[in-house]
Amino acid sequence: MANVRLEDIKRKFNNVTAIEDITFEIPDGEFWVLVGPSGCGKSTILRTIAGLETATSGKLYIGDRLVNNIPARQRDVAMVFQNYALYPHMSVAQNIGFGLQMRKIDSKIIQERVLNVARSLSLDHLLDRKPKQLSGGQQQRVALGRAIAREPQVFLLDEPLSNLDAQLRDDTRAELKQLHQELGITTIYVTHDQVEALTLADKIVVLNRGRIQQIGDPQTIYASPANQMVATFLGSPPMNILPAIYENNGFYVSGQLLAISAVVKEKLQLRQGDSFDLGIRPEHIFINEPLSRLLEASGREGHQEANESQLIVEVKVVEPLGRETLIRAGLPDSAVVLNIQVSGDVRPRPGDRLSLQLDLNQLFVFDSKTGDRIL
Ligand SMILES: Nc1ncnc2c1ncn2[C@@H]1O[C@H](COP(=O)(O)OP(=O)(O)O)[C@@H](O)[C@H]1O
Ligand SMILES: [Mg+2]
Repeated sequence: MANVRLEDIKRKFNNVTAIEDITFEIPDGEFWVLVGPSGCGKSTILRTIAGLETATSGKLYIGDRLVNNIPARQRDVAMVFQNYALYPHMSVAQNIGFGLQMRKIDSKIIQERVLNVARSLSLDHLLDRKPKQLSGGQQQRVALGRAIAREPQVFLLDEPLSNLDAQLRDDTRAELKQLHQELGITTIYVTHDQVEALTLADKIVVLNRGRIQQIGDPQTIYASPANQMVATFLGSPPMNILPAIYENNGFYVSGQLLAISAVVKEKLQLRQGDSFDLGIRPEHIFINEPLSRLLEASGREGHQEANESQLIVEVKVVEPLGRETLIRAGLPDSAVVLNIQVSGDVRPRPGDRLSLQLDLNQLFVFDSKTGDRIL
């Protein structure tokens, strides 16, 4: 096992910079996930670590060894890809033992190790089968088994679950996590799936356009995103972003005023007319009493209660999910659509007007130009 250190790695393809400024160190035995949208450079980083790609500049260490000029097969890493790439004419046992065979290890030892690996992946009853006699999930486990059997210093996994159907993906994800807990091999896992990142990682590296946006444990990334990209990429449904203008001691969101606390005002050093993007997660929005009742009540009292952290919206789509209901609702006279996540027994209808309460303690404020989080 080994730690993995990248120092200012850059990779250019002709004139196109695929990745740059890539610097991080993975301590021995940890499970790190590189996550980001398609094309952000995840595979390029992984392939560079594997030795399948050469860095244009920067230094790469596995353990204490500088490996920039060490060929892939001497780096002692094992890589698993999205397409399992098994040898079709070989049995499961032969596929798992292939890397060992290549290294001319004693056949008795190979047999033993293959059996151990197969057991830990629940493949021991399938050892004589050929790949085409296996399900997709089983094939992917064989590919993992082949990597594990080599007992590498580092595991590199590139979207290994993307080809599996939903149920199998969830199961295999949990197996993978358990396997890592047992083996403790340093693992770098690439995915575009934020759920995989949040559930598997000791640390998440969020990437966009070839650059690191943030590194942190899942809880930190979720609770304190560095910028709007990170904030909206992790979490499903994603964080709502509301363009707002500061005026009259509050934020105007498409004509509706949200009051803000003195603390916020002081921290942001607000000036009239400044514009921001506000961020609020779907689970931090609550539905007030139905609007009609609210208005009746306020009418009786002769004035409308000034509840200034509320927004009036119109329901567009309602998606019941059993335990919870997902509501998409639009702000009047605006293209902004809010995702709201409420308890499963709440079922408004399309066209209903709702008064929403935002939990202002959970409000994020982003610079509307750079996207950086400023609060
Ligand atoms: N061999 C290559 N030649 C030219 N451009 C490449 C090559 N490999 C990757 N790229 C480019 O580098 C960027 C990052 O690609 P990649 O690392 O595959 O992204 P990801 O795995 O995050 O989807 C993309 O813009 C891609 O088109
Ligand atoms: Mg990729």
